[in-house]
Amino acid sequence: YNVHHYSFIVKNTFFERLCSNKTMLTVNNGFPGPTIHVRKGDRAYVNVHNEASYGVTIHWHGVKQPRNPWSDGPENITQCPIKPGKNFTYEVIFSDEEGTLWWHAHSDWTRATVHGAIVILPEANTTYPFPEPAAEQILILGEWFKGDVKEIIDNATATGGDPTVSDAYAINGQPGFPNNCSNDTSYKLTVEYGKTYLLRLVNAVMNEEMFFGIAKHNFTVVAHDGAYIKPVTTSYIMITPGQTMDILLTANQSPSHYYMAATPFFDSNAPYDSTNTSAILEYTGNYTLPSSIPYPTLPNVTDQDAADNFTTRIRSLASAEHPINVPKNITTQIFIAVSVNQILCANASCGGPSGNRLAASLNNVSFVTPSIDILQAYYRSLTGVFGSDFPSQPPYIFNFTGDVGNNTLYPSQGTKARLINYGEAVEIVFQGTNVGNAENHPMHLHGFSFYLVGTGYGNFNATSSPSTYNLNDPPEVNTIGVPKNGWAAIRFFANNPGVWFMHCHLERHASWGMDTVLIVKNGTTAESSILPPPANLPTCS
Ligand code: C2O
Ligand code: CU
Repeated sequence: YNVHHYSFIVKNTFFERLCSNKTMLTVNNGFPGPTIHVRKGDRAYVNVHNEASYGVTIHWHGVKQPRNPWSDGPENITQCPIKPGKNFTYEVIFSDEEGTLWWHAHSDWTRATVHGAIVILPEANTTYPFPEPAAEQILILGEWFKGDVKEIIDNATATGGDPTVSDAYAINGQPGFPNNCSNDTSYKLTVEYGKTYLLRLVNAVMNEEMFFGIAKHNFTVVAHDGAYIKPVTTSYIMITPGQTMDILLTANQSPSHYYMAATPFFDSNAPYDSTNTSAILEYTGNYTLPSSIPYPTLPNVTDQDAADNFTTRIRSLASAEHPINVPKNITTQIFIAVSVNQILCANASCGGPSGNRLAASLNNVSFVTPSIDILQAYYRSLTGVFGSDFPSQPPYIFNFTGDVGNNTLYPSQGTKARLINYGEAVEIVFQGTNVGNAENHPMHLHGFSFYLVGTGYGNFNATSSPSTYNLNDPPEVNTIGVPKNGWAAIRFFANNPGVWFMHCHLERHASWGMDTVLIVKNGTTAESSILPPPANLPTCS
């Protein structure tokens, strides 16, 4: 494999958007930040130097990091933050990932502005499983907050309410049209008639799943979450925060200008940013612009059917070159109820003001981030940092989509992990509930990609639901949308020893405690054991 070196300086940079300005945290002054380019199986050493006034960490979203949780990044899960003025070199170990992934800060809400793409090219002397595109372009969907994101989440925590929503979505850092303040700086993608382009799309939005489309153009999705898929030709996609999609776009319409746009998909009464973001697809050549540039037709914000109709078309390649490895006989089954709830605060010790505060939970435990990292505590057998008693309930205890009552409205709080033996064939069923607020939850697992074998509405039924599974070509992903009032079942082999964070990728839910940790124990050989810790790990306290 080849080795690549990157230097990331985390620092404040001045930006102007939407007729207002602020300084915000960036990597190397970029929003989005720099792109990491590797080939399949390569290794990247990224030296992160922190010039911010508070601690930060960086996560390589979707990179499995075999046996190397030390460089995975989530704050106080696998490392303590890099302190101001200090640096840490992440060793990012690629294995079978292909296509597009991304990196982002993984401490409080800094990922809003600290993120960038990871481009994974095929191994040398091999090709894409589709015709070579004429050119490639990264498209990152993000959010623009006029305020400081750290203040926004700190204020929300202090009041126990919903954090302020963003002021705009953005494509490659630009809120786009129609917006008097930013028309000039909006992102433009220039294409030549007849050519095909590879668009690497990342959803780096904080709190909303997104629809995306390009006026008058169908396109073909060829990869998803760092794995190639059977081509899906469509006029729009739905992409959750955390997910990535590689798209082939052929410039086959009359040379002109066309809008590409993204709008939220948010089937819930919680507040969301209701604006659209757009960019221009601009053909080269001489032509007269139409009086109004066509805008894509995207599904309505609450259109669950449109979201499902796209998502359920995604299938693994499952070819000779890209075989799948779906566990057939499950040895560890974990059932997780995913809820938004409330915590009753008798005093400030519950992490909020007195009275109720919004919370979120997995199996009725609202996760509390420890003050030193779980990986170190586990590796050095330190007690008192986390409990290994994350509850696993069989699915028949509650009617999750019915009236579940106060016992699930008010979860307990704790730092609880689930230990799994090396090599187990794991199935996790996520069951959405309507406890506080029923909505979709994009659940993300670090250290793995997994197969989404089934999904449905209502309660998961242990007898009938598995008969609907796809075990032939299920999508291999790292983030899945658990449907509102429904369930999703995933499978994987626990073949990566380490401490791996699992959480909702809607940032407000993660902040409220919709998180847990899977600890995959060492196997019996050195090759199935966690690597030794790097020498310069950031210190805690
Ligand atoms: Cu994309 Cu735990 O993160
Ligand atoms: Cu969620």
